[in-house]
Amino acid sequence: MIDLHCHILAGIDDGAKSIDEALALIRLAEQQGVSRMVATPHIHIGIFDNNLQTISTAFTALTQAAKQSALNVELYAAAEVRIAPEIPMFIEQQQLPFLGRFDNHDVLLLELPSSHIPAGTDNLINWLLARNVLPMIAHPERNRELQSYPERLNAFVQAGCLFQLTASSLLGDMGASAKHLSEHWIKQRVYSIVASDCHSTKRRPPKMAEATQFIATLTAGDYAEQISTITPKLISDALGKH
Ligand SMILES: [Fe+2]
Repeated sequence: MIDLHCHILAGIDDGAKSIDEALALIRLAEQQGVSRMVATPHIHIGIFDNNLQTISTAFTALTQAAKQSALNVELYAAAEVRIAPEIPMFIEQQQLPFLGRFDNHDVLLLELPSSHIPAGTDNLINWLLARNVLPMIAHPERNRELQSYPERLNAFVQAGCLFQLTASSLLGDMGASAKHLSEHWIKQRVYSIVASDCHSTKRRPPKMAEATQFIATLTAGDYAEQISTITPKLISDALGKH
């Protein structure tokens, strides 16, 4: 399995607080069968003001520590970008890291607020697509507007967005509404990938194996493998090519 959304860079957002905790998260993931993780710290203006430099510094510290531990997980870094009016400027200045490539587009992990879908989101998505940037919407099942009006996801589907399921949503850790909605969208095969969105060993540990097994019980064929391994590999393979 390959995890494209996790908060394993130490001390730069609300994820791992130390390198030791980051290594413990990677170890837990490896025990579940995860072979590659893309660290995605928050870039959330005014809350977590990360940029390419803060991410690169924290990533270097993590990879150096990981080399000294007996871990066999490939590590890369990108970001989870909170939707904001500044995104077009950051894209034009090449200040946002991408999750990889899909369908000849750069993939941007884009986070909505948990409360609602901001006005102008459709315009931003069209703006990104026109510049060959494909938004992957992070955990749409956790958005309260979508929990009340699931059909509002259709506009994102029709635009061509990708969607990331958070493993712990499906397992019930994020509340009944997120679990119910993610089961519904899994059965409809809406999601492009499943990722852990892990933050801490105690409060939000990685649960890729458990979620993938559950997805396999809800769907026929190879969908569970597709969204836990095949598609995340395809997307993130591009990270190793620069
Ligand atoms: Fe996240």
